[in-house]
Parts: sequence; C-alpha cells; structure tokens
Amino acid sequence: MRSIASSVSPRGIAAIVGVGPRLGLSVARKFAREGYTVAILARDLGRLSTFADEIAREEKAQVFAIRIDCSDSRSVREAFETVLSLGFVEILVYNAYQPTVANNNQPCPTNFADIRLDTFQKSVAVSSVGAFQCAQLVIPGMVERGRGTILFTGCSASLHGIAGYSELCCGKFALRALSQCLAREFQPLGVHVAHAVIDGNVGSPRGALTSEQQQGGGRGWTVDPDAVAQTYWYLHTQDRTAWTQEIDLRPSDPRFF
Ligand SMILES: NC(=O)c1ccc[n+]([C@@H]2O[C@H](COP(=O)([O-])OP(=O)(O)OC[C@H]3O[C@@H](n4cnc5c(N)ncnc54)[C@H](OP(=O)(O)O)[C@@H]3O)[C@@H](O)[C@H]2O)c1
Repeated sequence: MRSIASSVSPRGIAAIVGVGPRLGLSVARKFAREGYTVAILARDLGRLSTFADEIAREEKAQVFAIRIDCSDSRSVREAFETVLSLGFVEILVYNAYQPTVANNNQPCPTNFADIRLDTFQKSVAVSSVGAFQCAQLVIPGMVERGRGTILFTGCSASLHGIAGYSELCCGKFALRALSQCLAREFQPLGVHVAHAVIDGNVGSPRGALTSEQQQGGGRGWTVDPDAVAQTYWYLHTQDRTAWTQEIDLRPSDPRFF
C-alpha cells in the first residue's frame, strides 16, 4: 500500500476497484473532490501511486493506492483487509475488467475457437467473481451502519451477446445479475446497489482535449469518463425513496443508437 495522507475522512472511504487512466481515475477524482478518503485499487501499484499523488495534490484529498488482483481471491481478501483497516467503506465502485485479447494477441472480435479456456476463466473472474468477493467484504459494515452505496460498471456486453466477445459478455452478464440480486436483498437494509451500462467507448475526459478538438466535436462520439463519474456521484447522493437500480449512458452520436 502507498499512503498519501494520515487520517481518514469522517465521511468514510470510497473504494474504487479497477483504476486505470479512464473511468476509474475519473471516479476516484470525483469522490476525492467531494470529500471522501479514496482507496484506489488495481494491479499496477506504480501507476496507482502516480494517480494517487495526482489526485491528492489536485483535490487536496486523502488517497491510498492498494494493489489488488481481482482474479485472485487471496489478493482481494488481503487488499480489503487493508482498506477496512483504514476505516469504514461508504462507497464501493467495481470497475475492473479484462480487455479482450485473442489467442494470437490480435484485437477482438475473434473466432470463438481462438479463445483459450484460461483467459475465458480469468475474464469472467475479473468481471464478476471479484465483484462478488469485494461486495461480500464491504456489505456487513454497510448493513451495520444502515447505509452505503455499491456501483457496478457494465457495458453493452452486459445486455447483449456479441460475436467474438463471449468472455466479456459472460462476465458482464453475471455482474449485472449480481447487482440485481444484491439490490433486492440489501436495499431494504439501507444499501444502495446500482449497475451502470456504458454503451459506447470511454475516451479521455473532455477537459483533457485541446480547444480545437472540443470545438470541432472531436472525439464527441466517445463517452467522457468525467461525465460518467458525475453520474456515479448522482447515484450515490440519490434520496433513498427514489433509488436507481440500473442506468444506461451513451454518447449523443447517432452511431450508438
Ligand atoms: N473502455 C471502454 O471503451 C468501455 C466501454 C464501456 C464500458 N467500459 C467499462 O468501464 C469500466 C472501466 O473501463 P476503462 O476502459 O475506463 O478502464 P479504467 O477505468 O481506465 O481501468 C480499469 C482498470 O482495471 C484494472 N484491472 C484489469 N484487470 C484487473 C485485475 N485482474 N484486478 C484488478 N484490476 C484490474 C486495470 O489496471 P491494472 O492493469 O493496473 O490492474 C485497468 O487499468 C470497465 O468495467 C469496462 O467494462 C469501458
């Protein structure tokens, strides 16, 4: 673990699992800006530490970088022992996924026959088994406090089978099912569980584009991760008499309809 600050926010911890340069980073930054202590988790601790430094400096926040491999139950357990030793988890965002790569390292879609059994198993584990375990580790505390938010990140593969993407679809379908089961079991106990279907390619935050790109609508067909992070904040702050269980997000470009 790499720690950037000493004491934890009284608002609790936002644990963001699966933090890379796109959505994970934007979500971590948003919850840090809103005053939470943020734990960012992924496999590459060096990159995470750079992100943690950046968020801590820019948002004046407490950020902890913690290594996790969501395909390894021991790693998940140890990572969450560390997270929970810091304080209570108020928000869990499960964002990890394994990008689909064919046997021959060619980008997907690929022939079904070229998908190896071990990569299929790992992809399903990262998308869904890891989510199951992370949720199981934080829910008892949330139930005890009668509050908390769990957000799962899905994609168009959560809803429809796509040729050449069976490993991603199977993992993401399972994640959506998990979200629905947890929502029905734990919302009556005060835990808000929601699933976000991102139906488009996640790009760079619009703020990171040049003004020329912004004016020309450049990359306007991609999903702005900062905009998704704003939606995650909205889900977290919804009144408990009107909770969303699933939301879908897509760019305005007609190619996505
Ligand atoms: N990218 C898109 O176009 C797109 C479109 C629709 C939906 N989504 C969804 O949005 C979410 C975020 O995608 P993103 O592309 O924006 O990525 P991101 O949030 O920038 O990064 C996700 C991170 O997950 C981590 N990860 C992968 N395998 C892991 C494992 N075994 N254990 C722990 N962490 C692991 C990777 O970091 P390490 O390598 O350091 O572990 C990766 O950088 C995903 O759930 C994805 O399905 C993405």
